[in-house]
This record gives sequence, C-alpha cells and structure tokens, in this order.
Amino acid sequence: MNDILPTETPTWQYIEQVTQQLVQSYGYREIRFPVLEQSQLFKRSIGEVTDIVEKEMYSFADRNGDELCLRPEGTAGCVRAAEQHGLLYNQQQRLWYRGPMFRHERPQKGRYRQFHQVGIESFGMAGPDIDAEIILISAALWRALGLSSSVRLEINNIGTAADRKAFGAALTQFLQQHEADLDEDSRRRLLSNPLRVLDSKAAATQALLVNAPSLSDFVSPETAAHYATLKQLLRDNDVAFVENPRLVRGLDYYNNMVFEWITDELGAQGTVCAGGRYDSLVAQLGGRGTPAVGLAFGMERLVLLLEASGKLPDSVNQVLDVTVLASDGVAPQQVLTLAEHLRTRLPGLRIMSHCGGGKFNSQLKKAYNSGARLAVIVDPLPETGDQTVRLRQLDDTGHSETITVAGLAEALKRALATP
Ligand code: HAM
Repeated sequence: MNDILPTETPTWQYIEQVTQQLVQSYGYREIRFPVLEQSQLFKRSIGEVTDIVEKEMYSFADRNGDELCLRPEGTAGCVRAAEQHGLLYNQQQRLWYRGPMFRHERPQKGRYRQFHQVGIESFGMAGPDIDAEIILISAALWRALGLSSSVRLEINNIGTAADRKAFGAALTQFLQQHEADLDEDSRRRLLSNPLRVLDSKAAATQALLVNAPSLSDFVSPETAAHYATLKQLLRDNDVAFVENPRLVRGLDYYNNMVFEWITDELGAQGTVCAGGRYDSLVAQLGGRGTPAVGLAFGMERLVLLLEASGKLPDSVNQVLDVTVLASDGVAPQQVLTLAEHLRTRLPGLRIMSHCGGGKFNSQLKKAYNSGARLAVIVDPLPETGDQTVRLRQLDDTGHSETITVAGLAEALKRALATP
C-alpha cells in the first residue's frame, strides 16, 4: 500500500475542480457510496473469471463471517446504491462519483493498489446519443486540461451477451486446435471465459490470434446499427477515434459499445479512461432492466499525464494573491489589523499576513517565495498626514508605489486586474 501518490496536490485539486464544473455543466449530480461492499456484488457484476475478481480484490471475512471487500471499481457500487435508494426505477439518471478504489495489482508507475477514479454513469437511456454524450464529456475534459493531443480514443462493438457467446464458442473451437501453444492463463480461460484470451500479453498467444475468428462477424444487426450511429455522432462532433476489434475490456458487464482513451506518454499503464454500455447490470443486481452507459478515469494517471505534458497553468500552484508585511519598527498588530481590513473590503481575495516577526528583508524573501503577486508593506506611522503603505509587485521589477490606506483596496483591485 506504500506506492500511493499524494492525493491533494495542487494538480489533483485542479483536475477535480475542472471535472466537477464540467460534469455539472452536463447535468450530472454527485453520488457517494461505500468503500466497503459485499464481495459478492463484484463477483456478480465484474464476473468470476476476470483478473479483478480472481486475483486483485481485497476480500476478507468480517466478524460475522460475511465476505466483504474494498471496492475495486465504482460502477457496481453506484448501481447498488442508486437501486437501493430508488433512483433507477422508471427514471433517467445522470450520476458521477469520485473516490478511492483498491486492486491488488503489481505496483508500478501509473498502477497503484489504492488509486482514485472519477466515474460518470447514466441510467435509463438506450440510444447511441447518450453513449456519445459520455464520450463527449471525456473529450471536453481533455480539451479543458489541454491534453487532447496526448490521448487517442479506441472504440469497439462487443455485441450482445448472446453474440459474444456464439463468438466465444467459435473462438474456443479455434483455440483448442492450438492449445499447446497457449500461455497458462489463456489455457485456463479457454473454456471459462475465452474472450479474455484476446487480452493475453503472451506474444505466442497474440501471434495465434491473428487468424482467429473475429467478434465483428458475430455482432447482431441491432448492435451494429447502434454502433454505426454512435460513430456518426462522434464524427459530427469532431471526436476522432480508431476502431480496435481486439478491445473487449476486463470486466464482464459490458455490451455493445466499449471504449478506452489511451496515451503513449505514461509507459505501460497508458489507459487513462475507459467505459462502455452495460444494459444488463441493473437487472443482474436485482433491479428492473435499465439501460446504462458510463466511464471512469484514473486520477493518478491523469495527474502524471498533466504534469508530464507541461500544460499545467501557472495559476494552479498559486494559492495567494497578496501578502502583508511590516517594515522594520512596525508592530505586528498593525499587519494583522490591515490584513483583516482588506479581507473585509475584498472578499474572495487570498490574503496572508506575515506572522512571527523577523527583519523586513527576511519577510520580503518569504513573500517572494509565497507565490503571491503583490506585497503590502506597512510603514511606520508618519508624524503628520495619513497612514501610507507600499504596494510592491513580487516580480523581477520589484516595482512599488506608496498609497494611503484609504485608497489601498482600489489600488489592489486595479493591480490584480492587470495580467
Ligand atoms: P477500468 O478500466 O477497470 O474500468 O478502470 C478505469 C480506469 O481506472 C483505468 O482506465 C485507469 O485509468 C484507472 N485504473 C484502474 N486500475 C488502476 C490502478 N491499479 N492504478 C491506477 N489507476 C487505475 C472500470 O473500473 C469501470 N468501472 C469503468 C466504467 C464506468 N465503465 C462503465 N462505467
């Protein structure tokens, strides 16, 4: 559990802020649900013969002997919670969530045992327009973060469960003829979940698959029509994509359209976002048949990508606008009082007052390191006339002007309005 990125870096907060604004602008509302669930929930939804359920869940028996686990993903928990609270019955819902997920995978750059997802799920809509909306939200997020040129969209139509069953049978028949050349995992999955063989990392297995039957030959006309409309909607909205007939996803609940956003800039863990349609899951978990589609992206991967891209706005690391300090000989009380006065006059401005005394020069050095744009320097009271302060630019020019306290708020507003 040690390989965990700090979760509250400025980059992280920036991505969360941009995401929140974006999903709200599409009419999605946030839902929260537990980190701890019955293991059965994930076995039933993700599938028994998947890497997540077979190898990666943090499962344990609690004091009552109930088998619980730390959630490995958000979709199943979202469906369970929404169903339990009556949000899905005969309704359309647009929901989003964020939070930690847990998978016992081998940690490496971009892959952690505790990681964080933002998920977006919509329920009660069966057409390709909502599929397109889900993908458009992700495309809009990359645009907002300046990452559009760092990621590419791959999509596929995996058909209905019945289509995949027919394809699975054909694939099994083909692979059985080459069983001796398969890797161990693939041999085991040959009968239980042959589609997972398509994901095998073994070069010999991949070489065999070149001549294997193709899922696209088995998909039903209805899903093909749905998929064709989705592709047209993506083109109409200028979202470029590549079709990847090998894309089947590692979770069993999908049908029809699946997709992944992939980057080449993070090494092996290049999938930053993934999702698809899952029309059977709500019914499978005990609800009434409800079409659904969604996605999730990994916060850690996005943080890494954004920091590597050099597209992070300077303002992300800036948490202050103004710092207030004292000339030598000025009482600290004056600094505190002036800063309070400014906060009242200029709500929303981020103002820090220097505390802890010290020589003026060392205060000024700290002010430069604080990231604030401006310093207000309180000078000793003049023998006659109004109290004045100096307003200093905390840049290379160090330009400063002397102004009266009465005119300070206006001067600050003016100075901060100029870029
Ligand atoms: P997933 O592909 O398993 O899908 O995960 C989604 C994203 O979570 C990945 O693309 C990746 O960015 C991030 N991720 C997964 N595992 C790790 C890890 N160990 N360390 C860091 N990041 C990771 C799902 O979980 C589905 N629930 C997505 C979905 C939502 N489908 C429909 N709605």
